[in-house]
Formats: sequence, C-alpha cells, structure tokens
Amino acid sequence: MEHLQFTMSQFNEAVAAIRARTDIRPTVGLILGSGLNQLADAIQDAVKIPFQEIPHFPVSTVQGHQGRLVLGHLEGHAVVVMQGRVHFYEGYSMAEITFPIRVMKLLGVETLIVTNAAGGINQGYHAGEVMILRDHLNLIGMAGANPLRGPNLDEFGPRFPNMNEAYDPELRDIAAKVALEARIPHHQGVYICLAGPSFETPADVRFLRLIGADAVGMSTVPEVIAARHSGIRVLGISGITNTLADEEGLPGPTHEEVLETGKVLVPYLETIVQGVLKAL
Ligand code: HPA
Repeated sequence: MEHLQFTMSQFNEAVAAIRARTDIRPTVGLILGSGLNQLADAIQDAVKIPFQEIPHFPVSTVQGHQGRLVLGHLEGHAVVVMQGRVHFYEGYSMAEITFPIRVMKLLGVETLIVTNAAGGINQGYHAGEVMILRDHLNLIGMAGANPLRGPNLDEFGPRFPNMNEAYDPELRDIAAKVALEARIPHHQGVYICLAGPSFETPADVRFLRLIGADAVGMSTVPEVIAARHSGIRVLGISGITNTLADEEGLPGPTHEEVLETGKVLVPYLETIVQGVLKAL
C-alpha cells in the first residue's frame, strides 16, 4: 500500500538527526533538479548528509541525482540544499516526495527556491533558456495524487490552502531582474507536472499547449504545494533542457540530452539563485 502520510514524530526524528550534525539553522531551502547538482558546489562551510543517513528520508534512484542534503552558507544566508530529489515515477508516494519539505519547514526554512529541468512546450521557448515559474498546472494532482490527500497535518497548515500566487511575485520580479541584468535568456511561464517517466507524445504536447502549459516536467509541483501549505514563500526556476516535437515523425528528447543541456544551464541558474539571495 502506498505510504499516505508521516507522523509528526517521524518528521521530528529527521530534524533531530540533521541538527545532530550541524549548528547551521537554515532559513532558505534549495532543491536542485536533474543535471543541476553542481550548484551546491558554491555552498560555504558545507556539511553534507547523504539522504540515507536521515531517518525516513527518501533516497533517489535516478542517475544524475546525487541524493544528499547540504547545509551551509550562500550569499550570507544559512541554506539547506537538496542535491537531488525523488520523483513520483520512481514509485515514491506523494508523502515521501514532500517529506523533505516539511523537514525544511521544521528546520526553520521560510523561503524555498526550487529548480528543475523541463521540456519547452511554448513555441517561443528554446533549449538552454530559463523559465521563472509564474504558476503551475497540477495534472497529477487533478488526477488525484495531491500531496495533501489524507488527514490534514494542522501543525503545518490549513486543510484547504490557497494556491493563488503560489510563486511569490516579489521573488519572481527579483529573479527576472537578475536574469535581465546578466543577459540570461528567460521567460516567465506556467509549468505543468506530469507523472512521467515516459516523455510526452506529439499529441500530449499539442494538448499541453492547448491547456496553457509553457514547460513540462516530472517534479516540483508536489513540493511547492507542501511548501505553500506550511506558508513557505516559493521561487521556481526551470532550465529548459529540450523542446518537444508536436507532430509525428520528429525525434523526441533523451535523458542524455536533458543532462547535457543541464550543464549549460547550471551557470544561469547559479547566477539567478545567487542574485536573488543577495537581494533578500
Ligand atoms: N518532459 C518531461 N520532463 C522533462 C522534459 C520533458 O521534455 N525535459 C526535462 N524534464
């Protein structure tokens, strides 16, 4: 049976294990997506804790996701960084996917910056560009897999959390300003979360475009919902690693392509993340 929910004592066990390893009290959380792990190299005073050493923490199985928590300092802020994350397609429940977010909340995190690799759906988007998330479409949530399903944990937030302005307008403005000044090709758009792991068919791509998606990926939305539920401000940034064919007969994306373009995007994301932190 799927693991629907964790108890407060399980969250607290994870928090205690992390606090036993470091005195750093992070206020900013960072999640690094596929191929974007190198961003964590800029962290000062880094304390690295493999996910498997934290009670109840989900351990990633995907190549390109290292799977450790890094606590340290970045641009004057105490940060906690998830180097790698787990996904629904790996077989994890929504409770497991969002477990780290709630641990971050209990650690003291007030602001979360989430990055991901995504495929461009908007015809004006190209591989190697950045999309600042303006909003999201929760397609797997609409189909029933919302991370808040099950008894509400009142310690974190309300039963029916508001999802207007899930992506903080002030953080988006700062991110866009940083990108503009650094001449980073960027857009603000709507991210849609699908379960994966298969990439989208041309018919999927036409459908996703029709319903208002600008970029598609297999993560982020569950984490953002859990973060917003507990009142954490969120900034979401996609690295567009590939575009997607919208008609039959064209080649589709590969995981290798996603990782390769991810390397090009790392400096862009690093610049934006550091610029935003500097401004906070
Ligand atoms: N589709 C879904 N997820 C992705 C893609 C894509 O094309 N690229 C990177 N993550």
